[in-house]
Amino acid sequence: MQSNNHATKRPEDHVIVIFGATGDLAKRKLLPGLFHLAKSGLLPAGYRVIGSAPHDCIMTDNEFRGHAKDACLQFGLAKPTGTAWKEFESKLHFACSDADNPKPLVDAVARAEEGIGGTPKRIFHLAVPPSAFGSVIGMLGNTKLSQNASVIIEKPFGYDLPSCQQLSATVHSVFGEEHVFRIDHFLGKESVENILAFRFANGLFEPIWNRDHISHVQIDVPEHISIEGRASFFEKTGTFRDMIVTHLFQVLGFVAMEPPTTFSAKSLRDEKSKVYQAMRLLDPAKVVRGQYAGYRGEQGVAADSDTETFTALRVDIDNWRWSGVPFYLRSGKSMAQRRQTVTLGLKEPVLRMFPVTARTRQDQRSNEVVIDFDDPGWICVQFMTKQPGPQMRLKEVEMVFKYSDSFHRMHELEGYERLILEAMLGDQSLFTRSDEIERIWEVATPLLDNPPPVEFYEPGTWGPEQPLRNLIHPYRWHLPDGHKD
Ligand code: BG6
Repeated sequence: MQSNNHATKRPEDHVIVIFGATGDLAKRKLLPGLFHLAKSGLLPAGYRVIGSAPHDCIMTDNEFRGHAKDACLQFGLAKPTGTAWKEFESKLHFACSDADNPKPLVDAVARAEEGIGGTPKRIFHLAVPPSAFGSVIGMLGNTKLSQNASVIIEKPFGYDLPSCQQLSATVHSVFGEEHVFRIDHFLGKESVENILAFRFANGLFEPIWNRDHISHVQIDVPEHISIEGRASFFEKTGTFRDMIVTHLFQVLGFVAMEPPTTFSAKSLRDEKSKVYQAMRLLDPAKVVRGQYAGYRGEQGVAADSDTETFTALRVDIDNWRWSGVPFYLRSGKSMAQRRQTVTLGLKEPVLRMFPVTARTRQDQRSNEVVIDFDDPGWICVQFMTKQPGPQMRLKEVEMVFKYSDSFHRMHELEGYERLILEAMLGDQSLFTRSDEIERIWEVATPLLDNPPPVEFYEPGTWGPEQPLRNLIHPYRWHLPDGHKD
């Protein structure tokens, strides 16, 4: 169960079923990702991929292969050419599945298993809206397709605590928790997992990672894109559920956790879970909800929509390590830049010995550790130096590590690819456990019950300016920092 130790291990033989195979996620991530895994020799020796969708989206095998090829051409790291593609393509099949008529899928799985031989495992990827989870899970149970099988479930896992608990009960009525992989693709990012290596493998950083040395933490994920035609999903979901409850809280778990005793799924998830247990219930007064101007005019969006396309909030973790250290989280659509950063603000040392004129720092930053976790990612330590010259003048400088300068990208797997591989290997380290997500919804309840009104912001900015400044006072947002996306 060592997530980092089986990088070159291949999973046992599998039949991989994608529900929602004609949808956006399958096209952008899953089909290109599976092909990249196949081309890298990381899929099992024996496998078949069955795309599935309701009967109104029916395709022949050949049409599905064409669809997958287009997806790889448009979005894939590995281009669909040569023998690698021919071989992958021959393993692709399509079968429609409806809750009241699962036979085409049941037959397709049986044919695939026969083609592979032996007793391959089954893995079902639910790339469908949360409203469809229940009926798909029920169908897998009724048809016994759930035997010898695991299930990958997309976010959001529920909309609030009661719906999350209900969903957990439905899933657990068919699958044991050890077969459930709640996927959050941020945890598949190299630079997010590297937070653990950075923290726990370095004597330089580990000792300062606490309230004695860190004044505040920022997890900042602005996006330049708008909702990109996803109105029906976004109107129901909003940024808080789409990004904060999922991706940003998972990153927070890695930044804030205590050292796990081993890199096993249980230790890692136990430590992450303890962080959420120690989180204070969210205070709506410490939350800024925003909506970009023009959102209400997008096709499929209500003219009086109250859905937030932006959220910034303060989170407090009441434990020995973090008591008194605010965590500021921010994410939004149509913002000035696409960035994915964690910033640790270090407490300022006593600067008395330096003449006041040496400390012209109002507009400077200093003593920050910045982790940019967008692939391929970099880390920057900012500190003060003496400017050369006869006077003692302080100047901020940087030490930077860049993944792209130090490692070959060819070894890299995209977040989804890494996680699909881990799920087939049966390692749950990088997946969310039911108690974690239930506690997160519990923490979110005061905000969901009492959301502040949305504040408008212009597309291409950093969000509603004054409320954001008030939220983070006396600190300041690290972004923008001059780095290009
Ligand atoms: C998805 C969200 O999970 O993550 C999107 O639904 C968001 O709204 C996306 O844009 C961001 O992911 P990435 O791969 O760009 O980091």
